[in-house]
Amino acid sequence: MGAFDLVAAMAQTRAVGTRALRWLDPPAGPALVLLDQTRLPAEEAWLTCRDIPALDHAIRTLVVRGAPLLGLAGAYGVALAACRGDDVAAAADLLARSRPTAVNLSWGAARALDAYQAAHRAVGDADPGAARRAADAALAQARAIEADDAAASAAIARHGLSLVGERARILTHCNTGALVSAGEGTAFAIILAAHRAGRVAQLWVDETRPLLQGARLTAYEAGLVLTGADRIAADGSVANKVGTYGLAVLAHHHGVPFAVAAPVSTIDFAAAGAADIKVELRPGEEVTTFAGTAVAPPGSTAHNPAFDVTDAALVTALVTERGVTRPVNAGTLQSLGAGRGSREGAPTDVSVER
Ligand code: MRU
Repeated sequence: MGAFDLVAAMAQTRAVGTRALRWLDPPAGPALVLLDQTRLPAEEAWLTCRDIPALDHAIRTLVVRGAPLLGLAGAYGVALAACRGDDVAAAADLLARSRPTAVNLSWGAARALDAYQAAHRAVGDADPGAARRAADAALAQARAIEADDAAASAAIARHGLSLVGERARILTHCNTGALVSAGEGTAFAIILAAHRAGRVAQLWVDETRPLLQGARLTAYEAGLVLTGADRIAADGSVANKVGTYGLAVLAHHHGVPFAVAAPVSTIDFAAAGAADIKVELRPGEEVTTFAGTAVAPPGSTAHNPAFDVTDAALVTALVTERGVTRPVNAGTLQSLGAGRGSREGAPTDVSVER
């Protein structure tokens, strides 16, 4: 699709009740039920993952995708391994490496593993009920991450609304709504909130192929560019769907604000800057073919990085569940990160006007 006006379409949007990922308890489970995003919009098909190889495959093939939802997939995956009596640490390690850029995946897996191991230690390895109690703890952690993500999404929408003026003309890049979240998403949650408030005059949904219409033309026309993020380094560098960097440069050149929306869990304080973010390289066939049909001459090869990294200096504001942060730099992110992982309290005022 090209960059096009979606306001009319939004008016007819179904209630956003899609749960792209759902835990299934026994006796039907334990399992993870995933909305197969590779088959949308033609078909709403559900994939039930009953073991870690199946989930790993679903993550790699983008059946389940988007940073916040990958956080849930990582955590519930660890719970699944624990319920099955698998090697839980090995499962967490495998899942964390399924995709390298979206930090929520390894973050979610690590948190569920921590909960599992802590419960195991507390009960004592010799206790026959230890494995059951530890599995319950991992599952409780996954459920908590899901609840936190839904709350973060709602808070991001609330805070982000302050960036959207009346009759706003917004450009967004890639997919950041209910399909990637336990709530209504990140950037798209803000857009929906703005739409409900009657503020969106025009929304462009940016797809930059085949003629780069979105990147070349739409940023020039937009009043606000709003994207999500898959990983944000401590200095504010933003890894997001490839094409984001070009948009940010264009937005900057044309004096258009460029804002990023993501939960605090997407900030990777262990990554100092862009060089510390591993960008996922995907198969070239994803570019040279479409839905199984070749769209490039036989023998063509393609370099297919899934993401690019945008310099913090190009990011006007970062919207998280804790408020609107600007400017975006190591100092303001450090303030934002204090108390990371806690539920939302009163919005932290880390906003510094440029
Ligand atoms: O399909 P993915 O997992 O590669 O998609 C990532 C994205 O959808 C975007 O980069 C998005 O802006 C960040 S995730 C909400």
